[in-house]
Amino acid sequence: MCGIVGYIGDKDATPIILEGLKKLEYRGYDSAGIAVLKDGKIDIRRDSGKISHLEALVEANPLKGSPGIGHTRWATHGEPNERNSHPHVGYKGQVVIVHNGIVENYLELRDELISEGIQFNSDTDTETIVHMIEIYLEQEMDLEEAVRSTLKRIKGAHGIVVLSTKEPEKIISARIGNAGGVVIGLGEGENYIASDIPAILEHTNRMVFLDSHQMAVLQKDKLVLKTLDGKPLDHKVETINLDPVSAVKGNYRHFMQKEIHEQVRSLTETLAGRIDFNHHSIVIPTLNIDKIDFEKLKGIKIIACGTAGHAGQVGKFMIENIAKIPVEVDIASEFRYRDPLVDENQIVLAISQSGETADTLAAMEEGRKKGAHIWSIVNAIGSQAMRLAEGFISMQAGPEIGVASTKAFTAPLVDLYLLAVLLADKKGLLSDGEIWEHIVEISKIPDLVGTCLDREDQVRAIAGKYKDTEHMLYLGRGINMPIAYEGALKLKEISYIHAEAYPAGEMKHGPIALIDKAMPVLAVMPKDKWYEKMLSQVEQAKARGGKVIIVATDGDEQAANLADDVLWIPSAGWMVNPILAVIPLQILAYHIAAMRGLDVDQPRNLAKSVTVE
Ligand code: G6P
Repeated sequence: MCGIVGYIGDKDATPIILEGLKKLEYRGYDSAGIAVLKDGKIDIRRDSGKISHLEALVEANPLKGSPGIGHTRWATHGEPNERNSHPHVGYKGQVVIVHNGIVENYLELRDELISEGIQFNSDTDTETIVHMIEIYLEQEMDLEEAVRSTLKRIKGAHGIVVLSTKEPEKIISARIGNAGGVVIGLGEGENYIASDIPAILEHTNRMVFLDSHQMAVLQKDKLVLKTLDGKPLDHKVETINLDPVSAVKGNYRHFMQKEIHEQVRSLTETLAGRIDFNHHSIVIPTLNIDKIDFEKLKGIKIIACGTAGHAGQVGKFMIENIAKIPVEVDIASEFRYRDPLVDENQIVLAISQSGETADTLAAMEEGRKKGAHIWSIVNAIGSQAMRLAEGFISMQAGPEIGVASTKAFTAPLVDLYLLAVLLADKKGLLSDGEIWEHIVEISKIPDLVGTCLDREDQVRAIAGKYKDTEHMLYLGRGINMPIAYEGALKLKEISYIHAEAYPAGEMKHGPIALIDKAMPVLAVMPKDKWYEKMLSQVEQAKARGGKVIIVATDGDEQAANLADDVLWIPSAGWMVNPILAVIPLQILAYHIAAMRGLDVDQPRNLAKSVTVE
């Protein structure tokens, strides 16, 4: 889950790499480092802490050169201190490496290298790789061969970028498995490499994606792609139509706040080109839906992690209700090891912002092995979850930088709504008029979300009242139950307040014992078929002295009378309600964390792309 950047060309690599690393900081921010080749030598700056600290180091003690590589780390092996920061150099001082992944057999390799007299300077697994490359170089191999031979010996999933003083005109990169992407950016007389598109997008939009078991040999005016057995491969250059500006904070204090406010635009983009208003139909060509035999289709398994999993739980209601297809939602890390009952008459649908989450990719692979159709709903263009799927829906939300996911939660909700209608249409379940009714509902979503966003000041005032609470209990029912989970997740991950979510009907089976004056209860209860039930459960909480905050539909007087505070959302259909109800919960969590003076975009211990188990 670390971030990697590389540059080769006539410019000084340092500023290019530092800027690129800043755009990858969401992948980890335990430590950062940079290495360049200058006059036949490797020059390095690295330390624990964020890129801003690395920048200060470089300013105090400049380094210049090309090619160069950089890294921002989410620590796995070895605590996040200077000696464990990447880049790591080999025992001869000839090779330098940045690495994303885990060397699963590193203890064995480390013992072997130590017995050969090699001294380790860090506690990382990565250091084994760089020493082995140097050993192979000593055996008269060239850099490519040395990297290839080393990769044959290490277990696990990896993305690496390597420089050597012996072949200073090259950067070598390789990818094995799903330890995060490697993308190569093609410039004019210069080339780039990174873990993700935004890091290099301001320099070029012509990109080549490295698949597993591929190696790139990059020179300033040349890219050669090979298999890990050294066989040359053709490469496909893709033109990325993303706006580099969207990865910049602009006037917002935090990326999370910016991304919350981008949701009108991101949802408009999500809908773009997907509704055929003339023929009253949903159009998603990338899904390859015609491969599905609806006579035989038994069900859909949605697999995901974190926020994406909550989106899947909402999707279950949409698909089961509209398309009448049974849906199970599974946590990817559970699904992959459960020997799930999946076969060729089912669809495994992965939802992932990054498209690189290790557990989600492994769950997709498990489904594929069992013969299921593999679909994905994914935000990061060119990511593994997009490439491995037989059919995909691109979220079209644009880069999401804040670790707490916001716009990449609402985009898949809209995608799932579209998908439900498309599936129902393919099954011949809906009349033209019914499809049109859904299209009208769906088309209103961006504007309704805009109305929720316009109420930020009201939500901020409520955040001010609850910012010092130590606990919060979120309740919801039916399609809004996952919204309670998502609201609680947002609060706990960025404000470190203990927040729990429960299906409201379960409250009497335990959590009601927690309720007292110190435990505010937040109930998600827009006007829908679960409303009356929610009302009585909130009454029960209120009767026990708890402060009550309600997400309520405009004009709901009963909610207003019952609640200490109300987060108002506009009136909408029951399937649109969750998309609106989550907006004030995102804003509430954001302002509480900001008022507590916390690092909203980079909360402790977390990373945005979890590319390790
Ligand atoms: C991490 C992120 C979450 C995200 C989850 C799944 O935990 O911090 O925001 O929901 O991974 O990520 P994915 O990229 O697969 O949606």
